[in-house]
Amino acid sequence: MARPLNLSVTYEAAPNIALVKYWGVRDVALQVPYNSSISVTLARFRSRTSVRFREGLSTDQVVLNGAPAASGPRAGVVDFLDRVRDLARLDLRAEVESENNFPTASGLASSASGFAALAGAATLAAGLSLSDRELSRLARFGSGSASRSIYGGFVEWRAGRRADGLDCYARPLFGADHWPALVDLVLLVEGAPVKELRSQDAMQQTVRTSPEFARRLRELPGRLARVRRAIAARDARTLFPLVMEECDSFRNVCETTRPSLDYLTSTSRAILGEVRALNREAGRPLAAYTHDAGAHMHVFTLRPALARVRRRLARLPGVRSSLVVPPGPGGHRVAASRSSRPGVRTRIVERP
Ligand code: DP6
Repeated sequence: MARPLNLSVTYEAAPNIALVKYWGVRDVALQVPYNSSISVTLARFRSRTSVRFREGLSTDQVVLNGAPAASGPRAGVVDFLDRVRDLARLDLRAEVESENNFPTASGLASSASGFAALAGAATLAAGLSLSDRELSRLARFGSGSASRSIYGGFVEWRAGRRADGLDCYARPLFGADHWPALVDLVLLVEGAPVKELRSQDAMQQTVRTSPEFARRLRELPGRLARVRRAIAARDARTLFPLVMEECDSFRNVCETTRPSLDYLTSTSRAILGEVRALNREAGRPLAAYTHDAGAHMHVFTLRPALARVRRRLARLPGVRSSLVVPPGPGGHRVAASRSSRPGVRTRIVERP
């Protein structure tokens, strides 16, 4: 069934950094992970995505950061649009334009923000009105971590128990203003290698080959509960060691994957060492490092210690820049407009 929708919807969403990582899919068809994960949605960074389904297109037009998408990323977007078309019983192709306000090549993960924004924009443009929970459930089919970027602040993606995956979605734990003192010092390192393997493929190699993966899974329920409690109590002394323990566990299963997955550069490793040294010298956990499947580092600290932590880390050789990023808002619609005739748009909603 074709419906002449012609509604262009723009949606924004931010990247998130996981404090407890998602790494391993239990059910590939349903994109259900082995374990629940917890993240912080980041302020300052965002993907902004516009979608319009319209008649007269023979294929989906996908423009990413101002240029036609390359075949890999384009296929991911088209697969996702197919899901939205199925849900909306729609057979129109779409125009998709997405841009990040951070350089994709910087290696900061853009799949979480990109697919969260695409889920929001595409469903509204297709005439669907999904709840955030439904959006989160859908977004994971684009990228697992995108399920968390639907929400702002502190977010948990529950793996769920049901065989149909319906209880697999993210939920907000606390809003972005829950812990005003907590910041993420994002350290961009020089020479961060471009990922050879998509995370969804890399993590399945870990599941298949790392002898450490089963142990990690046994540890996770306890760690998740402790991380949840420490965030609730705004207890950095408990949270920071847990965040590093979790990061070390994630890195360990990556490094024991065959062939080994090594995402860090010598600068990233120097940052790990420097954070440990800072904490040792202070006699308490001043900061916590973490990283995703990439070389850039995220160092959580509290505002009173920020200048000290930043001075120590930003001057390390190979650190290109350091950005102070507090928890930020979740995905939201920014605009919608309807074409009355081709090329002419009437703005009907605007939310800055
Ligand atoms: C290490 O959700 O980015 O960042 O499905 O391939 O897009 P794809 O995977 P993605 O994997 C995230 C892995 C991680 C940990 C996390 O964010 O929880």
